[in-house]
Amino acid sequence: MKRWALLSIALLAAASARATPPDQLYTLNCWGCHQPHAQGIAGSVPRLANSMGYFLHLPQGREYLVEVPGVAASPLSDGDIARVLNWMLLTFSRAELPRRFVPYTAAEVHKYRAHIPPDVIETRRRLSTKLKAMGFEVSRDGR
Ligand code: HEC
Repeated sequence: MKRWALLSIALLAAASARATPPDQLYTLNCWGCHQPHAQGIAGSVPRLANSMGYFLHLPQGREYLVEVPGVAASPLSDGDIARVLNWMLLTFSRAELPRRFVPYTAAEVHKYRAHIPPDVIETRRRLSTKLKAMGFEVSRDGR
């Protein structure tokens, strides 16, 4: 086989193995409910913009962002969930993050997503109350 042919096969293989960029993961899997600017849908989906970063101030909040059914039960791999969440946090809620933001890893996502809380709304309320006492006000729950 000619050298250029081998090269183009190698390039094609590299392109198809390349991971989907996180903004596209968001558009394809999350956008429908969370909306283009993560503003949510009044009455059903909470706003993530200028809010979701606050959850990382508590270890249980860090787990919660992965445990919500839209994330834990999504068809995305652990690695893609880590990438899309890290991208969302930095894109939509950078100012609310702890000063030292530690990005999610695939291994961490794997551990947290095995557990979906029996009552997501109640879990969110409990976390919101704790965060509020720390001076961090998350968005309304959308209900
Ligand atoms: C079918 C609609 C829907 C889809 C699709 C969806 N979500 Fe959600 N998401 C919700 C709702 C509703 C909540 C509020 C908690 C609950 O009731 O599950 C939520 C909560 C969250 C939260 C917790 C934030 C908070 O303030 O409570 C995160 C993080 C999140 N979603 C991320 C994602 C990501 C990432 C995707 C794409 C992989 C996604 N969601 C797809 C509807 C959706």
